[in-house]
Amino acid sequence: MGFPVVRPRRLRSSETMRRLVRETVLRVDDLLYPVFVMPGRGVSRPVASMPGVANVSVDVLLRELEEVAALGIPGILLFGLPSAKDEYGGEAYSEDGIVQQAVRSVKEHYPGLLVVTDVCLCEYTSHGHCGVVRNGTVDNDASVPLIARTAVSHAAAGADMVAPSDMMDGRVGAVRAALDGAGFAQVPVMAYAAKYASAFYGPFREAADSAPQFGDRRGYQMDPANADEALREVWQDLEEGADIVMVKPALAYLDVVWRVKQETGHPVAAYNVSGEYAAVKAAAAKGWLDERRTVMEILTGIKRAGADIIITYHAREAARWLREGQGGAGLC
Ligand code: PBG
Repeated sequence: MGFPVVRPRRLRSSETMRRLVRETVLRVDDLLYPVFVMPGRGVSRPVASMPGVANVSVDVLLRELEEVAALGIPGILLFGLPSAKDEYGGEAYSEDGIVQQAVRSVKEHYPGLLVVTDVCLCEYTSHGHCGVVRNGTVDNDASVPLIARTAVSHAAAGADMVAPSDMMDGRVGAVRAALDGAGFAQVPVMAYAAKYASAFYGPFREAADSAPQFGDRRGYQMDPANADEALREVWQDLEEGADIVMVKPALAYLDVVWRVKQETGHPVAAYNVSGEYAAVKAAAAKGWLDERRTVMEILTGIKRAGADIIITYHAREAARWLREGQGGAGLC
């Protein structure tokens, strides 16, 4: 049976009809909002390549979180810019590090807001790599204990979940064991499981001041051409105890998001990264894209591909639009 009996347009005739048959509905509950915290008081330093994003001191962050919490966004993903960097990223696992301070303050003021911490050394090392450098390369096994130590220090400060993003082999197992050994068996791990060596991280490296000072990250992050390998990374992280697995970036890797969800059935996060955000903002500023419709289409697409959690710098504006009740594709 086909046309003229079958007429798909019948179910597209009005917004109410479209709502009735809509398959994917983006919710505020799906979103995590990344934030960048730095030392100081009253500081808000805009990130030029990411309009709407700023490096902020803890007091300013607390003020901004009022709206985030009021909008019902479940949580934040916290990144830190330390006051000093060194070869071993010592500020990453210092009890008084910027992230540890921020976690304590945020949990004190917003106990109901989930605080997820990015666990990596790249913002804290003088060379900008995600681990310890020896003989010109990132030494996997020397880096893993420092990553684990960072995760424990975040949990000790009160983090609700830790998210290792370094892509060292074996770090999820090491983080899990260290958390368990320190009395944090209840703190889940969201592993950046399939993290690609991507050009889309460009603006983030300005935001987090974490560009590698020599070479690049292709020796530890994944080759964009590989998807089977992503599944192996994901399974390995799950076997090591990951509770949530992440695919990053999102848009050029929606096939990977789909496969990870279909093949594992585990909770999947997708990171709508800085370059994806910057591209939309730049085109919208020029009037070349309708920002709201573009953002909602992108986030709905990431969800449709299988993401249970979407990490996005658009979280605040998306949550506002969803609250206005015209989210999803309903705007078109
Ligand atoms: C740290 C880290 C990066 C991002 C998240 N955690 C940068 C990188 O690996 O270079 C990227 C986030 C974004 O681009 O929005 N390792």
